Amino acid sequence: MKLDRLPRFNLAEFPTPVQYLDRLTKKYDGPGIYIKRDDVTSLGMGGNKTRKLEFLIGEALTLGKDTLVTAGGIQSNHCRLTAAAARKAGLECHLILNGTSPEIAKGNLLLDKLFGARVHYCERKDRDKKLFQVADELEIAGNKPYVIPVGGSNSIGAVGYVNAMQELARQLVELDITPDAIVFATSSGGTQAGLTLGAKINGFKGDILGISIDQTKTGPDPFPPVLVQITNATAQRIGSDIRMAESDFSINCDFLGAGYAMPGELEFNAIQDLALLEGILLGPVYTARAMGGLLDLIQKGYFTKDQTVLFWHTGGTPELFAWEDQLQAAQYT
Ligand SMILES: Cc1ncc(COP(=O)(O)O)c(C=O)c1O
Repeated sequence: MKLDRLPRFNLAEFPTPVQYLDRLTKKYDGPGIYIKRDDVTSLGMGGNKTRKLEFLIGEALTLGKDTLVTAGGIQSNHCRLTAAAARKAGLECHLILNGTSPEIAKGNLLLDKLFGARVHYCERKDRDKKLFQVADELEIAGNKPYVIPVGGSNSIGAVGYVNAMQELARQLVELDITPDAIVFATSSGGTQAGLTLGAKINGFKGDILGISIDQTKTGPDPFPPVLVQITNATAQRIGSDIRMAESDFSINCDFLGAGYAMPGELEFNAIQDLALLEGILLGPVYTARAMGGLLDLIQKGYFTKDQTVLFWHTGGTPELFAWEDQLQAAQYT
């Protein structure tokens, strides 16, 4: 397999820790809950995009590019980490964010600016067009832009999570545990594609269960086709014969609530539980929704007491500082 031979630019220290959440497990009186701490990858406040960016920047540098261009929401963790990674690699960074420039930059947007990214605002519907328009303009101005898709979710970024699954497989042997499921936040699909492929390669039999952050069952659901496409292209890139179909992916779309980036009781309760019981922070948009979903499934008996689940913490904690009003209003005492 070509995994070790692909261009890679080191951005953080691995492996990330796996920990047992004793007090959370006791409170919910269900399966044993472990956590994989990709929130503590050391670059720019951490998160899952670090692993994808190692391979994306590896390729950008190999191609002699000098500027990263990517897109996302105004509180995008992917954009914040792309801006941070650009600095470490000595590259420039342009971000296309949907929305308008707020009076006060908070959370991830504040960090984008601290990392010196050039921010371009546009409407959500124009985002993809604007991404390539900015790249074209940079090219004309003599730069060498490298376009990273939303979420870093393509066959290059997803390699980071094939690798991560290999890392986890070794840790599970050391800890002598076999989780029945790995649960995590899923959105643009690269994390889930990499984990599902990595699980297959490493003979991991548990469920790779993505909690969708932005989809409903009944809405236009682009997920399985995107996942199949990214996964099979990733397999091809690393020289694996494995090919997957829609039925190989496990997604729960029950937790959209009021919508994407609209956290409510489910998310704020999960934030409170993890903070008060384990001293761990979740981000309101992604990881609090995924953890809230997991805790809801446990309460509904989806997992039994003799089972083990592993929550893959994909980061996003700087989001907390963009929801300060709601967090203060929640009166956590
Ligand atoms: C904190 C966090 N968790 C999970 C995800 C979802 O990862 P993916 O886009 O690979 O599905 C994201 C995506 O932006 C994220 O920021």
